[in-house]
Amino acid sequence: MRLNSPQINLITKACLKASRSLIRDFGEIENLQVLSKGPGDFVSSADKRTEKIIIDELQRAHPEYGIISEEIGLINKSNTKNRWIIDPIDGTTNFLNGVPQFAISIGYEEDSEIKCGVIFNPITNEMFSAEKGNGAYLNNSRIRVSNKKKLIDALLVTGGPKGASKIKDTIFSEYINVSNNASSVRKFGSAALDMAYVACGRVDGYWQREINYWDIAAGIVILKEAGGFLDFFDEDPNIPLKKNILASNFNIHNELKELINKKDIE
Ligand code: IPD
Ligand code: CA
Ligand code: CA
Repeated sequence: MRLNSPQINLITKACLKASRSLIRDFGEIENLQVLSKGPGDFVSSADKRTEKIIIDELQRAHPEYGIISEEIGLINKSNTKNRWIIDPIDGTTNFLNGVPQFAISIGYEEDSEIKCGVIFNPITNEMFSAEKGNGAYLNNSRIRVSNKKKLIDALLVTGGPKGASKIKDTIFSEYINVSNNASSVRKFGSAALDMAYVACGRVDGYWQREINYWDIAAGIVILKEAGGFLDFFDEDPNIPLKKNILASNFNIHNELKELINKKDIE
């Protein structure tokens, strides 16, 4: 039987509450596309609105917990034992363009380890969740990574580079390397959902440089509990919230690692 901790119950509740306003906001986007200014400002308020609902809900239960959230930044910085890691809308560009591929992502970290997390696409009504030791779920069904054996047969997903990236050449050359050795590579535009898709076997692997911790925090526990393998590489100790990540099923993990131009991955 699935026994839920108070933390996962809380993040699920906060996520569902915030999603109601997010769904309404997404419905407005189509009307705003016609304005010459576009929906940019509206999306930024939707992001903040969603974040506020989540944080209010979490703080009501645990005002002392630390928070890392994309829009507002750090709250209760000195509490590094218990922290919520929040991305109120992951996949903002999709949201902005009316593409229903975005998610709320909330992870709970205890003693520097993500213990539970939820990733929710409110438009498809898909809730990916996991708790350490308790398995990973899509809504109420257990999920597992794929069993694809060879990279050449694998469907992969990646993201980036961002406009301001200084390592575009590295990212593009990795993309070419990997594409030449896999069945296909996609860019769906939401790192949180990319991780969730590996966890439920829709895609076989995911890698990306210059990602933020809040993009993938919930995904870490969901992927591990679904039997996936995960590596962080080329980390800069001065920017601990920036990550380079590689996540996949066990069978293709080493082959995929070989194709990344990493410096410090074993
Ligand atoms: C972005 C998405 C995207 C990834 C970017 C992220 P945001 O998050 O996860 O897939 O490629 O690196 O910044 O800005 O939509 O929350
Ligand atoms: Ca994000
Ligand atoms: Ca975001």
